[in-house]
Amino acid sequence: MGELVIETKGLTKEFNKFTAVKDVNLKVPKGALYGFLGPNGAGKSTTIRMLLDLMRPTKGTVHIFNKDIKNHRMEILRKVGAMVESPSYYENLTAYENLEITRKVLQVDKKEIDKALEIVNLSKWSNKRVKNFSLGMKQRLGIAQALIGDRELLILDEPTNGLDPAGVREIRNLIISLPQVMGVTVLISSHILSEIELIADHVGIIQKGSLLFQGTLEELKAKGSREIGIKAKPLKEAEEFLKRQGFIVDNREEKLYIPRKNINIEELNKTLVLSGYGVSHLSESEKNLEEIFLELTGGIE
Ligand SMILES: Nc1ncnc2c1ncn2[C@@H]1O[C@H](COP(=O)(O)OP(=O)(O)OP(=O)(O)O)[C@@H](O)[C@H]1O
Ligand SMILES: [Mg+2]
Repeated sequence: MGELVIETKGLTKEFNKFTAVKDVNLKVPKGALYGFLGPNGAGKSTTIRMLLDLMRPTKGTVHIFNKDIKNHRMEILRKVGAMVESPSYYENLTAYENLEITRKVLQVDKKEIDKALEIVNLSKWSNKRVKNFSLGMKQRLGIAQALIGDRELLILDEPTNGLDPAGVREIRNLIISLPQVMGVTVLISSHILSEIELIADHVGIIQKGSLLFQGTLEELKAKGSREIGIKAKPLKEAEEFLKRQGFIVDNREEKLYIPRKNINIEELNKTLVLSGYGVSHLSESEKNLEEIFLELTGGIE
């Protein structure tokens, strides 16, 4: 794996006796659109709070840009734009004025505000008071706030929460464009699989505080790649035979499994039978992302 922007080791958070985050080793590569997926209460926000040093871990470490957040807090957080759960604003101030507060803290050029408003498509509304904003506009303003300054990493906690389908789509397209437009790495959390599937190229799946899977979306999909299951006699000999034919063979539960890719099932059956093997069962399995996810999480979403 290339350079990591976020790396946690053994990250753990206990509230009294309850473990909300358990031994999590996040690895977010530079330039990734990392989807942090998990059901309600899985520990996403708690993890994110620890990444941003809003909460101290019970155990474990957080490294961002290869530096420990504990010792390099300010230096790191200057380059990290974040939106944690629903952002709050000064409702009586305009969008521009709200962003001006962020800009002053970061001491960056005023042009940054216009740029951020432009990216989230709020330029027209910059002089409107936030109290008149819809939920979607507030979410977009939250993203604009995260974009201000020289950000190298964006951490967005459920940015599409509470939006209608059109709003979800708009925010999704915005987020997908960010790595190119801003050259940033993005971590986005969600409890919706289809959302992550459409946005992310890397995925981390968390449930009950534990990371169940981490890798590229392709790797996740490959876990459910189609297979052909074969019951043949004698099994061991059939396995060796298939391997000699160049197949990748997995022998489990009294069956042989080979990847579905470019295989003609009828031809395969014929080859086995003509070579003297008794084939009593040949089936094709197919798993979609939802099934893979359910299998990983034990069916709780
Ligand atoms: N300050 C706290 N004190 C005690 N328990 C907490 C605290 N913060 C979170 N928890 C518990 O830790 C678990 C994880 O919560 P967290 O908010 O991280 O989940 P989440 O994945 O963000 O869920 P959601 O999708 O609902 O936002 C939950 O069971 C929650 O009740
Ligand atoms: Mg949360």
